[in-house]
Amino acid sequence: MTRITKPALDVVSIRSDFPILEQEVHGKPLVYLDNAATSQKPRPVIDAISRFYANTNANVHRGVHTLSVRSTELYEGAREKSRAFVNAAEAAEIVFVRGTTEAINLVANSFGAARVRAGDEVVISAMEHHSNIVPWQMLCQRSGAKLRVIPIDRHGEIKLDEYRKLLNERTRIVAVSHVSNSLGTVNPVDEIISLAHERGVPVLIDGAQAVPHFRVDVRALDADFYAFSGHKMFGPTGAGVLYARKSLLESLPPYQGGGDMIASVTFEKTTYNVLPHRFEAGTPDIAAVVGLGAAIDYVHALGYDAIESYENELVAYAVDALSRVPGVTLVGTPTHRVGVVSFTVEGVHPHDAGMILDHEGIAIRAGHHCTQPVMDFFEVPATNRASFAFYNTRAEVDRLVAALAKVREVFGS
Ligand code: ALA
Repeated sequence: MTRITKPALDVVSIRSDFPILEQEVHGKPLVYLDNAATSQKPRPVIDAISRFYANTNANVHRGVHTLSVRSTELYEGAREKSRAFVNAAEAAEIVFVRGTTEAINLVANSFGAARVRAGDEVVISAMEHHSNIVPWQMLCQRSGAKLRVIPIDRHGEIKLDEYRKLLNERTRIVAVSHVSNSLGTVNPVDEIISLAHERGVPVLIDGAQAVPHFRVDVRALDADFYAFSGHKMFGPTGAGVLYARKSLLESLPPYQGGGDMIASVTFEKTTYNVLPHRFEAGTPDIAAVVGLGAAIDYVHALGYDAIESYENELVAYAVDALSRVPGVTLVGTPTHRVGVVSFTVEGVHPHDAGMILDHEGIAIRAGHHCTQPVMDFFEVPATNRASFAFYNTRAEVDRLVAALAKVREVFGS
């Protein structure tokens, strides 16, 4: 009989790859539960960046000299890794940007200029990060288009029936998150995309909180645009990806002008470079892109099957443990959740709770998580948010739970 063994993660060995996790904070071993804000970086990523600056540093696409050729190979090699990472058809569909925010601004500006006019509509959801709200609001202000918002329910899930009603002949684009950064909800993006496509409407998916946790296949999803940041998936800050369907990207005007995005320039006329370079003006953050490539290799070596099954079990444990703490209320109770648990502590402002937890060596985020409309919906000023990665453990959840008892003690609640 063939035994099917569950893929397992060796978390002790994984943790030893992350030097930052070895330290103490306020005399206690660090418990890092702020991964949705930014993840920590494994040694291979840190080494790839350091090696780049020590051995290779030169500008890309510009020089015939050896270092420039090597630098370009590393940079374009990371593009190929990014292509395979999201299963894009071609490397030309991968545009390097600073992060998700820049990717969304690129689409809102470029697609917006080409396709959105007064009276048109842009559809987002009520659980979006400010970076998937404000660029569209700015576009609407410029163009006279209208922002339409898909409502969410008390669990923190998108109301699909309401979404269906919002789609109409004026809808020009739909932009929604794959995973909510403040609630952890995994949205049914495949259904959201297919409903939009029935009306010929393209869809942008903000995948910043998805790629650290599960495999994304842009072709299986049939996404038109898919954005993510390297720094939330174990890579450095300063490099992220905008995937864009080639047929769409080809039809869009450049976002920024400058070096490398041109084919020829005279004072009378500029012609633009081929894809994806047309959308990458100026010297990119080459070292960060190289680091992103190393992060992709690292995640692949662990394997998403193992990551997912480990994290699902860990987050379920955290949800269960936190919901048993007296005075703790979970904010958002979605059926399908990854990475994030938001909560409030009765009688304690999240910032105060966050400070006491910090004194216990525990890093969580306290605030509105750049999702003020979500806070308004749940009628809270802010939440505490514990967010997880594959290097976190049950013992760390236990430390959080024990520290929350202290929080309540201090506040006499
Ligand atoms: N978007 C990041 C977060 O959710 C900063 O914390």
